Amino acid sequence: MSIERISTDELKRVNKIRRDFVANVSHELKTPATSLKLLAESLEESLDEDPIQARIFASQLRKETERLANLINDLLDLARLESGEAAEHEQTVNVRTVLMSVLAPMRRVARKKGVALHWKRFDRASQYSVTGNETQLTSMFTNLVDNAIKYTPPGGSVEVRGGCDEKEVFVRISDTGIGIDEEKLPRIFERFYRVDKARSKATGGTGLGLSIVRHIVENHGGRVTVESRDGEGSAFTVYLPRGG
Ligand SMILES: Nc1ncnc2c1ncn2[C@@H]1O[C@H](COP(=O)(O)OP(=O)(O)OP(=O)(O)O)[C@@H](O)[C@H]1O
Ligand SMILES: [Mg+2]
Repeated sequence: MSIERISTDELKRVNKIRRDFVANVSHELKTPATSLKLLAESLEESLDEDPIQARIFASQLRKETERLANLINDLLDLARLESGEAAEHEQTVNVRTVLMSVLAPMRRVARKKGVALHWKRFDRASQYSVTGNETQLTSMFTNLVDNAIKYTPPGGSVEVRGGCDEKEVFVRISDTGIGIDEEKLPRIFERFYRVDKARSKATGGTGLGLSIVRHIVENHGGRVTVESRDGEGSAFTVYLPRGG
């Protein structure tokens, strides 16, 4: 095979990925845009005659608007990550400090839902330094803890545990939640992939969280693994090279 032939194939493949992405984005944006229009119309019509119903429409309108705003923010994050912009803001980051700032607001979310959030304290905190971007690492761990709480029914628990060896820092976020079907496990890091579209829509998910997680981890020279059992729970482990 000639070099020219390989590059044409590669170009075709990249173009297909781009086309699929644009088609996915358009599809994902169309749905909330349509419901915003419908809700606004319904609100307008019911304002005078049925103020109670109008209030319900107004609250649905707010939720849909939030969903759309989240989707747009996630898309912008992904675009920024892919352009490699973030690599410019490297510094020494302590993973333990990042986790503390992530877990503080998450405690409230977990408590409200009736999910126990446990944190196995890291010993010898000074060893948890990595070289990277603090904002990205914060957003990455927030996504994983948010998922763990979101996909765990009330009464369940989420545990965050950290450790390190000479080479790597690792953080494991495990939950006793709904778990992920083995068949679907390889696909969950894909953009827009949701195991259960209907259920995920109800919880406000866009299906971009884990693709952002994977991008950030890879930008930091690390890796992320997942183990899960349908109906029993999941565990995501992030490994980051030590440094700084
Ligand atoms: N801890 C978990 N337990 C069970 N299923 C999970 C867990 N984390 C992720 N998933 C599944 O993987 C899918 C993809 O996760 P991802 O975070 O990318 O999207 P999302 O949570 O639906 O939306 P968002 O973009 O708001 O994060 C989820 O829709 C869910 O089905
Ligand atoms: Mg998510």
